Amino acid sequence: MDMPTAIIDHTFRKDVSRCFDQRTYALPARWLYDRRGSELFEDITELPEYYPTRTETKLLQDHGSDFAAAIGKGRAVIEFGSGSSAKTPHLLHAVDPAAYVPIDISGEFLELSAAMLQGDFPDLPIHPVEADFMKRVDLPDAVADMPKLGFFPGSTIGNMIARTSVDLLRFMRETLGIGSQLLIGLDRVKDRQVLIDAYDDSAGVTAQFSLNLLDRINRELDGDIPVEMFRHVAVWNDDYARIEIYLEVQEDVTFTIGGTMHSLVSGQRLHIENSHKFGLRDARLMLRAGGWTPLCDWSDEQDYFTLILAEAHPYKHAP
Ligand code: AVI
Repeated sequence: MDMPTAIIDHTFRKDVSRCFDQRTYALPARWLYDRRGSELFEDITELPEYYPTRTETKLLQDHGSDFAAAIGKGRAVIEFGSGSSAKTPHLLHAVDPAAYVPIDISGEFLELSAAMLQGDFPDLPIHPVEADFMKRVDLPDAVADMPKLGFFPGSTIGNMIARTSVDLLRFMRETLGIGSQLLIGLDRVKDRQVLIDAYDDSAGVTAQFSLNLLDRINRELDGDIPVEMFRHVAVWNDDYARIEIYLEVQEDVTFTIGGTMHSLVSGQRLHIENSHKFGLRDARLMLRAGGWTPLCDWSDEQDYFTLILAEAHPYKHAP
């Protein structure tokens, strides 16, 4: 179920208040994706510096016969956070599914992309589900008895801290059931400059994507934050193996949000996003912690990005 606008407003307001009133100076990355933010993210995926989308799409294109062999045909494909479903056709061609269930929190996006996909796969039963996949999701009755393949591309799991990512994998296991498979895309640890450039591109699109969050606060919560005083900063935190994104204010500023006044001193950073990168062993450990047994994986020749296929086995007693 999509969250009613009033509830979204309420949670957004609460998160923004925690950031400025309680001075956590951190905002959840999910608020980056209003309509404008989602458009800017689509632009990011086409930037020369942003290699993940290109690399993962090529893996999906190149390994169709491997997927067919490892996954087999006739499963119900359940895509978590399907968005525009741009990469999905490659997988569907390879595994010839019995049904496709895109799950997304945005109902509007969901209907549109389901309709487009139906055009390419006229005989495929498509059952869109509008839901928050960060919890267990009730799947449509039509797929209840089908073997299932979860699909979670884009290294979206990298935007979560370790505890949340493992919780999510467990919810996916509950949603899909024992014996199900999961194909997940993970961005790899690599040269620091390649990573920084991917999150601080020369055309400034990623900066616009970040700064849109302040515009969104101004638009939706009646604020007058001087957005032009902030700059987008991307840093590599090697200890956490992640890119961290901040908005840094370049002068002392005072502004209001919903009538409440706030002041920030020059140099104060707001932490707005993490994008974790994975070694293969880290990735396998994370999957196991979430109840998924890795079966096989596919990477590009530079080891920039990896797709891992895992299966939900019954839990065994461990020593
Ligand atoms: C959606 N997610 C996987 C993107 C990433 O690479 O972490 C979001 C993003 N933020 C800035 N650029 C891309």
